[in-house]
Amino acid sequence: MINGLVADSIPLYQISAWSMAILCRGFTQAETAFLTDCMLASGSTLPRATDRPRVDKHSTGGLGDKVSLVLAPMLACFDVDVPMLSGRGLGITGGTLDKLESYTGFRCDLTIDEMQNQLRQIGCFITGTTPKIAPADRKLYALRDVTGTVPSVALITASIMSKKLAAALDALVLDVKCGSGAFMQSFSEARKLAESLCATGKRMQVATTALITDMSQPLGDMVGNACEVNEALSVLAGGGPTPVRELTLRLSAEVLSSVARFPTPEEAYSNLSSAIGDGRALRRYQEMIEMQGGRFHEQLDLARSHTIDLRTLLKYQPNTQPSHGTAATQYLHSIDGQQLGTAIVQLGGGRRKLGDVIDHRVGLEMLVHLSDSVDLSSPIIRVFCDSSSSLEAALPLIAGALTFSETTFSPPELVFTTLS
Ligand code: URA
Repeated sequence: MINGLVADSIPLYQISAWSMAILCRGFTQAETAFLTDCMLASGSTLPRATDRPRVDKHSTGGLGDKVSLVLAPMLACFDVDVPMLSGRGLGITGGTLDKLESYTGFRCDLTIDEMQNQLRQIGCFITGTTPKIAPADRKLYALRDVTGTVPSVALITASIMSKKLAAALDALVLDVKCGSGAFMQSFSEARKLAESLCATGKRMQVATTALITDMSQPLGDMVGNACEVNEALSVLAGGGPTPVRELTLRLSAEVLSSVARFPTPEEAYSNLSSAIGDGRALRRYQEMIEMQGGRFHEQLDLARSHTIDLRTLLKYQPNTQPSHGTAATQYLHSIDGQQLGTAIVQLGGGRRKLGDVIDHRVGLEMLVHLSDSVDLSSPIIRVFCDSSSSLEAALPLIAGALTFSETTFSPPELVFTTLS
């Protein structure tokens, strides 16, 4: 089927029917691994550039996820190669390439020779995938998109793993997000996907670990392109929000111990923290940006900032809860990630359709997080935006994405579980 898809010798209506059968009936783990293998073999793999182990991370995508920006250069400080082939954002999901293109001149179209050269010199790159990598996935994904067959665990697994394994990895760590801002909204769905990804990695002889992590609120404070780069830079400089730093270190520690750079993830974690503390990770990041043509800055310029307090926000809520007028103290109860992501698209920071031009300087800063207490005068969110009409259009979306309650509760954990 995959050969027929790539050679155009099987009609797309047959492939659509087959995809629907997979969605409805499922695949065994062996079938999923065979499918992954065929999709991988539909294209080329990245030749070995050095004799260092090759490692990478994949995230199923979520709001404010800037982990790759810190993780790739930080891991490269530990004598491993990190060949990161990444994507652009579409709809509410942000893309690592879009974030990096906030740097003037940054190139996301490295040739295979340039990728190899960069691995030899600094041990990491982040660039776009090429049409030669898993071409079957490009065709199958486009078809799944229009036939309602995206949410099949087997098809998602083969799609993700065929692209990641094309980099000839020794170890891979997966960040499977779960919650309102993620592809998988419930823990049970996220767990099924994580198990399928790990089983497929194992069958294909790549040490694979998955962390199921929270996406009921954005990761860290910043959501947008340049503002997420700034937050990643703060983490690399030893500061930044704890969840971003913690998740990046936990994912990196898993993959470094998978290739036996350290005997345990705990030991890897403490060594990785030192690479941030002594500035090595930040220097490697700067080298990566400059080798790929970007003009490095310690912080990037953002659009004009507007701080919105709860009183202002409530004016934009379609159904303001009656309790808002009564209780002096409220707690941030939930964040609808899909709607908050739509606000970023409305501000011009994301794409409605492929090829849309984005404004890297717009974004949001969450000034409160789930379970934080607020009153009517508390600042809730900062919007970076130069256009007042875009701001007016985004505010009802932002207001509608947040709910407040009068009762306190514990915020969700950052990492729910680890599978390997
Ligand atoms: N991401 C992918 O790369 N493929 C899928 O099928 C879903 C998410």
